[in-house]
Amino acid sequence: MQRALTGIKPTGDVHLGNYLGMIRPALALQEKYEAYYFIADYHALTSVFDREKLRAHTLETAATWMALGLDPERTILFRQSSIPEVCELAWILTCQVSMGQLERMGAYKQARDRGGDINAGIFNYPSLMAADILLYDSHVVPVGADQKQHVELCRDMAIKVNHRFGEGTLVVPEVSIQPDVATIVGLDGQKMSKSYNNVIPLWLPPKKLRKLVMKIVTDSKGVDEVKDPDTCNVYSLYKLFATPEQTAALRERYLVPGMGYGHAKEELFQVVNATLEEPRERYHEWMAHPERLEEVLAEGARRARSAADVVLERVRDRVGLI
Ligand code: TYM
Repeated sequence: MQRALTGIKPTGDVHLGNYLGMIRPALALQEKYEAYYFIADYHALTSVFDREKLRAHTLETAATWMALGLDPERTILFRQSSIPEVCELAWILTCQVSMGQLERMGAYKQARDRGGDINAGIFNYPSLMAADILLYDSHVVPVGADQKQHVELCRDMAIKVNHRFGEGTLVVPEVSIQPDVATIVGLDGQKMSKSYNNVIPLWLPPKKLRKLVMKIVTDSKGVDEVKDPDTCNVYSLYKLFATPEQTAALRERYLVPGMGYGHAKEELFQVVNATLEEPRERYHEWMAHPERLEEVLAEGARRARSAADVVLERVRDRVGLI
């Protein structure tokens, strides 16, 4: 069975962008692939400098996966740091990538352009990410568009390693990005991202969720004006939660006078809330039982390790470390 692998950084509240762009598509792959989904706590160390926060966000992220339907019998859920050998592979890969390639990464350039001190972890981030993917012989990597460049660099590293040390040393993975959810917009119409402060967290209580939905920026067209659904942030989220019939009905209302954006936002709140209602309850149940989450993570780590050992031994042998 081919393998799917992806990760998420435990750096704050999981948001609708993570859910629509990666978690939902990744969960849909569970049946067709042997899935390795992990919490990228080593990556979070580039920006979280608080032990309690890192621990809390790690458990919240695990609870999020479980609440949204990860099947632990089938899918392997684990902490990245449970398999510290990933750092060894990251080092081996760091020696196969040029400074120039790392300097061209958009995420690094953005961090640099924001100014201030950038730690070397941010610069080397793509080597560790490539190690995550390659350590498990992953075939497909479901992510949002913002991670595409990193997965492509990972492919380049795998190809280079195979060229230098022999074909078959590493599996060259494919990126999987669903075009309709590649970049989910946030409250202000930019990409939804913790760094832009425009996110809608997944597990807000309904009242707060509604309040935030009401803050989504629209143009200033009045009730009596015809509106363009295809450029509207509210509609673009609505269609990802609503049924095709609901979507068609709301579209109709945009195209004739008589509907205000407040109404569209109310409709959006209703479909988002209906989708998240049951998972929210499950989320809080999991959060009330961290020991159960730890059990799932421990079993995941055990299974991840047996896959990782095989690959790392092969790589160590090929590069001359054994
Ligand atoms: P992270 O934690 O920033 O985001 C987790 C996933 O959510 C997707 N995403 C979005 N998709 C669509 N629209 C958005 N607005 C949006 N915001 C976030 C991201 O694309 C991502 O798929 N580097 C990764 C974590 C990672 C990883 C890996 C992923 C570490 N190692 C190996 C894949 C394979 C990250 O920071 O994701």
